[in-house]
Amino acid sequence: MCHARAGDSTGDTMMHWTLESIPWDKFDRSKVDPELVKIVKAASMVEANGADYGSYLCSVFDDDPEFRQAARAWSLEEVQHGMALARWAKLADPSFDFDAAFKRFTDGVKIETWRTASIRGSRSGELVARCIVETGTSSYYSALTDATDEPVLKEICRHIAADEFRHYKLFYEYLKSYLAKEQVGPLRRFFVALSRITESEDDELAYAYYAANHPNETYERRRFVKAYLRRGFGFYRHEHLERAVGMALKAVGLKPNGRLNTVLTGIAERWLRFRIAQLARAGA
Ligand SMILES: [Fe+2]
Ligand SMILES: [Fe+2]
Repeated sequence: MCHARAGDSTGDTMMHWTLESIPWDKFDRSKVDPELVKIVKAASMVEANGADYGSYLCSVFDDDPEFRQAARAWSLEEVQHGMALARWAKLADPSFDFDAAFKRFTDGVKIETWRTASIRGSRSGELVARCIVETGTSSYYSALTDATDEPVLKEICRHIAADEFRHYKLFYEYLKSYLAKEQVGPLRRFFVALSRITESEDDELAYAYYAANHPNETYERRRFVKAYLRRGFGFYRHEHLERAVGMALKAVGLKPNGRLNTVLTGIAERWLRFRIAQLARAGA
């Protein structure tokens, strides 16, 4: 078992930044966007749950001590992302009770830490899925960095985005070494990537949004998926999508910056604009 908590001294990697290195005294309330506070709260829940995902990865890679060590350090960084976002959310909204919201979230969303084999069918599949998640988070925090004018949140998101790009590289390096041992063809990798991308509309993010922002209501999946999507995906610009598409293509073994990237980025951008406008019209 390699359950890790933020603040543990057992992590084998030096943190690239800490909560103490964030300039909290530069917080500027006049630059806080209340809609953004809602998605920061939701993101803090998902990130803080990284400890459980670290345990799951340690079970799946139980005979690979080097990877387990890397997964432990990785999960500490994810938990730190959650702590930094939660602290900022509390500055922006002093009524935010992270502990109560996080309990609501973890009571509703369980990571299958007891599993000993990847839910993606192979270790390579698991690593493709991890690359896709880090693609999503790195582009998300890059988009938030560019979207916010609040100096403390900008600094936090800049740090987190840099971590997420590094996490992608970490899982990609292990993916290459596992592909040399396992027979997982490009088509299989493509389907794992596709299934993980479509899961971004899934319960975890929507449930986090609900748990953080609507404590006295009952969970309605469709309503909160829409509410989260409208607020969470409206900040993406062309360059964020282009880079994310390149990273996803690379994870499935395709050329990151060719014609396919141009076509897929165009489709993603049009789909996103259409979906955001549709959700805005529906009052999500
Ligand atoms: Fe993260
Ligand atoms: Fe990450």
